Amino acid sequence: MNMDKIRIKDKVFRRYISKAEIARTVKRLAQRIQEDLKGEQPLFIVMLNGAFVFAADLLRAMEGPCEIDFMRMKSYEGTSTTGKVDLLQPLHSDVKGRTVIVVEDIVDSGTTMWTLLHYLEPYKPKCVKIAALLLKPKALRHDIKVDYVAFEIPDDFVVGYGLDYDERGRNLKDIYTLTEEEQTDK
Ligand code: IMP
Ligand code: MG
Repeated sequence: MNMDKIRIKDKVFRRYISKAEIARTVKRLAQRIQEDLKGEQPLFIVMLNGAFVFAADLLRAMEGPCEIDFMRMKSYEGTSTTGKVDLLQPLHSDVKGRTVIVVEDIVDSGTTMWTLLHYLEPYKPKCVKIAALLLKPKALRHDIKVDYVAFEIPDDFVVGYGLDYDERGRNLKDIYTLTEEEQTDK
């Protein structure tokens, strides 16, 4: 089966980053983070739903103590951001004095990460760092530092490896980008 192009609902996507390249890059990123975290007892906060695949690979590529918790925020409908962020699942762990690494699928406008940083602040973590699979630098609208990035990409909509289009495509092994082609038959 030719999987260079795929169709999800009304849209056509083409293969953009292969699973082999993702695997190599995520492994390198894990090594960098591990190196920086020497002597720490970090808490990883995985942002659901999109980051579940990235987090599974990233965290299994790391050795040493690591605690993992999950949060869920939502800002996207279809292929665009709504601008407002809903907290669907709050954090249960105590972050006071902890080194926190937020694991996110993609930083687009940055609104989700900006909201999260403000949410965590009153709980007084020692420090909060962000590890994102993807960053769209041209779309960034907030003054936030994304400490670890696997891939910087143009301001185009992508799916796969955890990322969805209307809740579809999260299980794709590669990352796909939207093409101009429209599909009318769903
Ligand atoms: P932000 O708040 O604008 O930075 O958007 C972040 C969230 O929007 C991410 O956690 C994703 O869930 C979603 N998102 C942003 N860009 C894309 C994309 O290209 N494909 C799929 N989801 C995206
Ligand atoms: Mg997300």
